Parts: sequence; structure tokens; C-alpha cells
Amino acid sequence: MELTSLLLYITIFFSAILVLILFSDGDLTLMLLERFGKRLSSVKGQVYWIVGASSGIGEYLAYELVANGAKVVLSGRRENELQKVKAQCLIIGKKAGLSETDILLLPVDVTKLELHQQYFDAVLKHFGTLDVLVNNAGRSQRAEWMNIDIRVDKDLFEGNVFGLLNLSRTVIPHFLAKKKGQIAVTSSVCGKVGAPCSASYNATKHALHGYFETLRAELTCRGISVTMLCPGPVFSDLLSACATDTYGQKLGSAMTKKDRRMSTERCARLCAIAMVNQLDEAWISINPVLLSLYVSQYAPSLFRSFNGRVGARVAMSLRDSRNDLVNSCKKDVQGEKSE
Ligand SMILES: NC(=O)c1ccc[n+]([C@@H]2O[C@H](COP(=O)([O-])OP(=O)(O)OC[C@H]3O[C@@H](n4cnc5c(N)ncnc54)[C@H](OP(=O)(O)O)[C@@H]3O)[C@@H](O)[C@H]2O)c1
Repeated sequence: MELTSLLLYITIFFSAILVLILFSDGDLTLMLLERFGKRLSSVKGQVYWIVGASSGIGEYLAYELVANGAKVVLSGRRENELQKVKAQCLIIGKKAGLSETDILLLPVDVTKLELHQQYFDAVLKHFGTLDVLVNNAGRSQRAEWMNIDIRVDKDLFEGNVFGLLNLSRTVIPHFLAKKKGQIAVTSSVCGKVGAPCSASYNATKHALHGYFETLRAELTCRGISVTMLCPGPVFSDLLSACATDTYGQKLGSAMTKKDRRMSTERCARLCAIAMVNQLDEAWISINPVLLSLYVSQYAPSLFRSFNGRVGARVAMSLRDSRNDLVNSCKKDVQGEKSE
């Protein structure tokens, strides 16, 4: 084959991939599985424990699962919100034949490690088994790297990492006894790249990959599967309890309809598809964040060079699409002159 023809074929191939990514809101494997993979109806009768079900992605994941006949345990700290989610689950789940006993409300604070066994005992007492643990609880952050109080780093690791890690260790003996079980973990695009202005949060999400990839390596052969979910910007309550650089402080912001984010329903649906198909990892995002994630993973040097030159402000506006949030974290980052 002539060199020019070869170059032409390569160009056509990569252009086609580029177009596919630009018209997708999940990685290409996930998109394929959405059309041709295992159906969501396969969750019928399975028991899912969603930790972080009181709002956002976890809440909508519960709706998706009960709509398809799964039994769910709804956990989080805000019992009032969980009550509302449970009520909605009952309405949705009724059509799939579910009743009150198929939806367990179980208030959980993942940072209370000493209570983890007690929480899990309550799940087993109610359902007698567990099929999938969804480690979805998490808090985000907006803060400049230089200014973060070390206590904020530790605080985010307590909830986002150690809480989920210990809960998983509590559940895994049950999975091993059954020779079957799945752990899903809500990481983030920030668990794959160094997005600016959320260093502690990014580090917690990267740490989840470290822990759970190792779990996969050790226990796949004993029937345990691990699914890492990596969403980009999604509508949820995330900005409300979001950490800052100051210990004990919450950002207390709310997303608005004008923000450029994926709908919570769509994200939850893609998470559910990734889980039923037991994907190792799924990328779920609007563009251009999805495309930039592809570049960061397949051409990391190009991504870093672009990221470094174009500056943190561009990356931040891709994530938050709002000047108030971008400006709240701009003093020392690239793209702005330092004092
Ligand atoms: N939204 C996004 O743009 C985005 C992007 C990438 C990744 N994510 C990840 O998606 C996951 C869900 O977040 P979301 O966006 O849906 O935000 P969200 O609406 O704020 O949901 C966070 C959930 O985590 C729970 N949670 C937090 N701390 C907890 C604790 N100590 N114990 C038990 N539950 C706790 C919350 O429940 P309580 O407050 O009731 O305890 C809530 O149900 C998080 O892991 C987040 O990092 C979100």
C-alpha cells in the first residue's frame, strides 16, 4: 500500500473516532453496551446498596434500578431526603412489582467506621443477601492547591476514601462466601486527571482507583467484580456540601439550570448500564470534557502540555461553566496574574 493511501486511511479512522466521541456522552465501549449490551431488566430481584442515595446521582440511580425491579438499600446521612427518595422509589418500583419491603431506608455515615458492621448486619437482616455495593458517597471541593488546610485533605480522605474502603472490606467476606458480588465506585473524571482547584478531592478519587484496582487484581478470580464510574459535570447537590480550602467550611453553592452539565437521570442510567455489564471502568460526560479525558489517557503528554499552556481557567470553566465559581478559585492559578 502506498504511504499516501495509508495516511489517508489513518486520517479517516481517527476522524471517525473523533466524531464518534464528540457525539457521545460516554466512552465508546459504554455507548456500544447501551445499544447491544446486557439489558437493565437483568437487575430484577438483585439487592443493591446505594451509599449516597439521598440526592444527585445516587438518588437517580435508585430510581433507575427500582424501575427495573431491583431491591435497594438507600443510605446517606440526611434521613428526610432519604424518606423522599424512598417514597419516589415506591411509586416507580410499583410498576416493576416492588413493594415497601423491597426498599430499605438505612441512614449511614460512612465516616463512622465503627458502625459499618452494624449497618451491613441491618442490610443482611432485612434482605438476607447483598449483590452490589454502590460506593457513591462523596464531597467535592473548590480550593487552590497552595491554600488548602491539611485538615481539609484529611477530612475529604475520611469520607471519600476510608469510609468507602472500610465499608467495602465489611461487605466483601459476604461476597466471597457467595463466590459472587460487585463493588461499584463513583470516582470522577477528576480521578483520572489533575483538574485544577480541587486537589484534595482529586487525590481522593485517584486513591479510589489505587485501592479498587488492586482489589480487582486480587479478587476477580474469586468472583468479585469492580466497576469504576467516572462522571464529568453532572447536575446534583454536590456544590452545596462542597469543601473549600478552610477546615469545616462548605461552599454552600447550588447548580443552576444554565450550568453546562449532564442531566442526573442520564448519568444514573449510564452508571446502571456500566454496572449491569460489569464494565471495569466507565467514562460518563458531556463534551468537550469527554474528549479531553480521551486525550489525557491516550496522549498524556499532549494533554499536560495543552493543560499547562492554555491554563487552569479553561479547565475550570469546562467543569463549572460559571464565572462565579471559576473566579472563586483564580488568584494564583495559571491564566491570572499572581499578586
Ligand atoms: N455531580 C458531579 O458533577 C460529579 C462529577 C463526578 C463525580 N461525582 C461523584 O458522584 C458522587 C455523588 O455525588 P453527587 O454529584 O450526586 O452529589 P450529591 O447530590 O451531593 O450526593 C452526594 C451523596 O453522598 C452522600 N454522602 C456524603 N457524605 C456522606 C457520608 N459521610 N456518609 C454517607 N453519605 C454521604 C450524600 O448524602 P448525605 O449528605 O445525606 O449524607 C449524598 O447522598 C460523589 O462521589 C461525587 O464525587 C459527581
